[in-house]
Amino acid sequence: MSKTLRIDFNNMLKENIGEHGLSEKEVEAQISKAKQVYDALEKKRESTTWRDLPFNQGDIVADISKTGEYIRENFESFVVFGIGGSALGSKALFTALKHLHHNELSAEKRKAPKFYVIDNVDPDKMNALFDVIDIKNTAFHVISKSGNTVETVSQFAIALKRLKELLGDDYKKNIVITTDKETGNMKRIADENAFKTFIVPDGVGGRFSVFSPVGLLSASVLNIDIDALLRGAGDMDKMSRTDNISKNPAFMYAALYVAAMKKGVNISVVMPYADGLLFTAEWYAQLWAESLGKQIDNHGNKVNFGQTPVRALGVTDQHSQVQLYNEGPFDKVITFIKVENPSTTLEIPVAPINLHDAAYLQGQTLNELILAELSATEYAVTKAGKMNMMISLNKVDEYTFGMLLSFYEVATAAAGELLEIDAFNQPGVEEGKIATFALMGREGYEDKRKELERQKNKKAEFIFDF
Ligand code: PA5
Repeated sequence: MSKTLRIDFNNMLKENIGEHGLSEKEVEAQISKAKQVYDALEKKRESTTWRDLPFNQGDIVADISKTGEYIRENFESFVVFGIGGSALGSKALFTALKHLHHNELSAEKRKAPKFYVIDNVDPDKMNALFDVIDIKNTAFHVISKSGNTVETVSQFAIALKRLKELLGDDYKKNIVITTDKETGNMKRIADENAFKTFIVPDGVGGRFSVFSPVGLLSASVLNIDIDALLRGAGDMDKMSRTDNISKNPAFMYAALYVAAMKKGVNISVVMPYADGLLFTAEWYAQLWAESLGKQIDNHGNKVNFGQTPVRALGVTDQHSQVQLYNEGPFDKVITFIKVENPSTTLEIPVAPINLHDAAYLQGQTLNELILAELSATEYAVTKAGKMNMMISLNKVDEYTFGMLLSFYEVATAAAGELLEIDAFNQPGVEEGKIATFALMGREGYEDKRKELERQKNKKAEFIFDF
């Protein structure tokens, strides 16, 4: 049983899983760089201020808590508009730390507004939202660090029009904006209209922003204990400030994953055995993919690094993906996430009919069953010689969850250093953003539009249109 968080890397190693595991030499090649990684990250401390968020937000947290309380007490629903790093932290916090059917609970049981994160511009999804919320009684948190993201601005415009029609000049109290402190369209809009505004500090990129107002306002509205969350994150960050890798699990994770990548292991599966952690896997997927999937390294070489993250759910995906994990190619690392003590217990009772061959289950619990299935899958993939590791959480509370997210953030940054790439930019995302501006007719992007149109040279015989 773990005290808070336990991370077992043993099944990454050759000695435990056989020829496809990491050899001592492969591990040593990465862990010997711990001092180099530590120094590089310390040097970047000023430009990676997301690491300071657990420690330096006293007044901001007070303001977030006040705003959160106001929203909690005055609105029936709370909607986040944002995408990527501006949405996934809120989703992860909500699903991990709140009731799994929060929105269906009565207001009395919920003790917080209904909660929605809209991170797409699918018209059906957006219209479906407006079918279920009472807009007058809904607070909207519009999050965009750059302030220029078309998805978020479009969602905002749609909500604004409806709010104004229903509430007249009183509509502004329903809006909170989180954006950059001085640049970008959203800042201009917020200032011109005096909307309540929070800031994404410099040095806090979208996917590293969960502990800024980007994630914390959702947490506060939902009555999640922000202090405990930040304490967990801070304790993990302090633990990561050493080049002694035997005391630094985030560096160890980075070292072993990079060693695996160097062997051509190009897929990182995260498989929590808890429905509440599925969006943690989503959040991780963006963090890992966008940070490490890079064409050019720090020296200008074309490297095309990256490891494709896959989110899986235990036990559900045992009946979908695990066949492939066991018998398919040796191209994955599987991280299992175990929750030792779920917040509730459920017994499989003695049934009122004869269960025949399944009778042995009676009197045991679903808690025992899910852990047994996890152990069984770990055993099977290990026997099949597939790299895997186990993160065990004693329970999913704010402190532990803060630790887990911070662990992944530091591990990602450390992996970036080992790979000698910039883990904090996203030129591949920017390219798509610019192409969208061009296609939607934004002024100044006419040449890009022409370039896109030139690409449309497709062969008829490869198109089936019926
Ligand atoms: O991690 C990132 O930087 C991205 O995923 C961004 O969060 C995403 O593109 C949204 O950007 P913005 O917050 O500027 O609207």
